[in-house]
Parts: sequence; C-alpha cells; structure tokens
Amino acid sequence: MIELTINGTSHQVDAEDDTPLLWVLRDSLGWTGTKYGCGIAQCGACTVLVDGQATRSCQLPVDAAGA
Ligand code: FES
Repeated sequence: MIELTINGTSHQVDAEDDTPLLWVLRDSLGWTGTKYGCGIAQCGACTVLVDGQATRSCQLPVDAAGA
C-alpha cells in the first residue's frame, strides 16, 4: 500500500513500488485527465507537479512520488 497526497488529499493505493505514477493516477484513482503519449518522458502529455516541479509521470515510479 502506498500513500499519496494529491491536491491536499491523502490517497492509499495498492500498487507495486515501481508502477509509474501515471498508471496509478489513471488506473487506480480513475483520474484520466493525465494523458499517456509517448511513455518515454519526451512528449509531456503526462506531466504533473510533484512537490512543485513539473514531472513526467510516465517515468516516475509511484514510490518516488509517495507520502
Ligand atoms: S507520456 Fe510522453 S512524456 Fe510521459
């Protein structure tokens, strides 16, 4: 179980540590506004803010974005 704080709200998700944050957002939480494009951190379609930094969520393991 991984705990994420997103937009000030805590969420617990059941995902492998190395699952890209993008798939946790889309598949586990159902937030499909974050898009998949290239999957290799090139296009920016999956960009989210992590601690105020623009981050390609397709290449960020969820355990690196947690808590
Ligand atoms: S999907 Fe293209 S940068 Fe993440």
